[in-house]
Amino acid sequence: MENLQTIFEQAKELTAKGKAASYIPALAQADPAAFAVSLMSMDYQIELGDCSKTFTLQSVVKVLSFMVAANHHGIEEILKYVDVEPTGDSFNSIVRLESKNNKPFNPMINAGAITIASLLPGKSMFEKVKSVTQFIEKILGKQVYINNEVYLSEYHSADYNRAITYILQANGFLKSDVEQSLQVYLQLCAISVNTSDLAKIALYFATNGKNSDAVCSKEVINISKALMLTCGMYNFSGKFAAFVGLPAKSGVSGAIIAIVKDGEMEHLKGPIGIGVYGPAIDEVGNSVAGIEFLAKCSKHYDLFCL
Ligand code: DON
Repeated sequence: MENLQTIFEQAKELTAKGKAASYIPALAQADPAAFAVSLMSMDYQIELGDCSKTFTLQSVVKVLSFMVAANHHGIEEILKYVDVEPTGDSFNSIVRLESKNNKPFNPMINAGAITIASLLPGKSMFEKVKSVTQFIEKILGKQVYINNEVYLSEYHSADYNRAITYILQANGFLKSDVEQSLQVYLQLCAISVNTSDLAKIALYFATNGKNSDAVCSKEVINISKALMLTCGMYNFSGKFAAFVGLPAKSGVSGAIIAIVKDGEMEHLKGPIGIGVYGPAIDEVGNSVAGIEFLAKCSKHYDLFCL
C-alpha cells in the first residue's frame, strides 16, 4: 500500500537522474541528492525529508511579482505589456522577441518576468523589490531575505537576460531602465525560502488567499493559477497539465509550488499547498524527483484539477 512516505522515497531515487543548475555558478553548489517536500492544509502539515534547508525561489517568484504588478495596475494595463499565452519555448528564449508580435508571451518566461519587474510599484530598485518581498512576507507572516551570493553570482553571468532586457527596451515594453529592470528581476529570483514557505505560498492559491492577510484580488489569483497551469513548468507545462493536472510553478533551484484546490492526502483535507525542493533538475529546468513525486501523488490521491 503506497503512502506519502513511500511515494517520497521512490521519487527521491530519481534525484540521480538530474543535475543542479550550473549556468548560475552559486546554484551548482547545491547537493543534487537533496530532496524535501512540505504539504500544508489549513490545519495540518506534513514534512518529508530535510525541510529546514533554504534555497532561492528563482522562477517561482515570477507568479508572485505578476500578482503584485497586476494588483497595482489592473489586468487590462498589464496586458498591454505582457500577454497570457503559453509559448512552448525554453524559459530564456529570445526568439519571439524578434517576431512581428514581439510582446512577451507570458509573465512566466524571462522576457515577461523582466517586463513585470519594470512595472512593479515604486521608483527605485529597492521599492520595487520591496513591493514583492512585502507581499511574500504577508503570506508567510515572517521576514524574507535575499541571498546576495546567489544574486551576485547570477548578476555576473546574466548575459542572456541582459540581452533580453535590451531587446525589451528597444521594443518599448520596459517601464524602468535596463539595469534597474534586470537587477529587480534577479534580486527577486534570489529570495531565500524553505519548503514549508513554499507550501504556505501554494496554500495561499489553494485557499484563494484565505490563509493569510496578504491582499490580492480574486481575478488576479485566478489568472495566476491559470498561468501556472498553462505556463508554470516551462516547456513541460502541457505535459504536466495533461498528466499531473495541478497548477504549479517551478524554478531552476529545484523549487516547485503545486496547488491542490480540494483533496485528501492522509491527514490533509480540503485545500492543500505543496512545496518541493529537489535541486537535481532535468534539461527543461524542473526538479526530476519533484515531478515524479507530484505525478505519483496526483494519481494516487486523485488530485487532477480539471
Ligand atoms: O533568469 C534566470 O535564469 C533565473 N534567475 C530564473 C530561472 C528559472 O528559475 C527558470 N525560469 N523560468
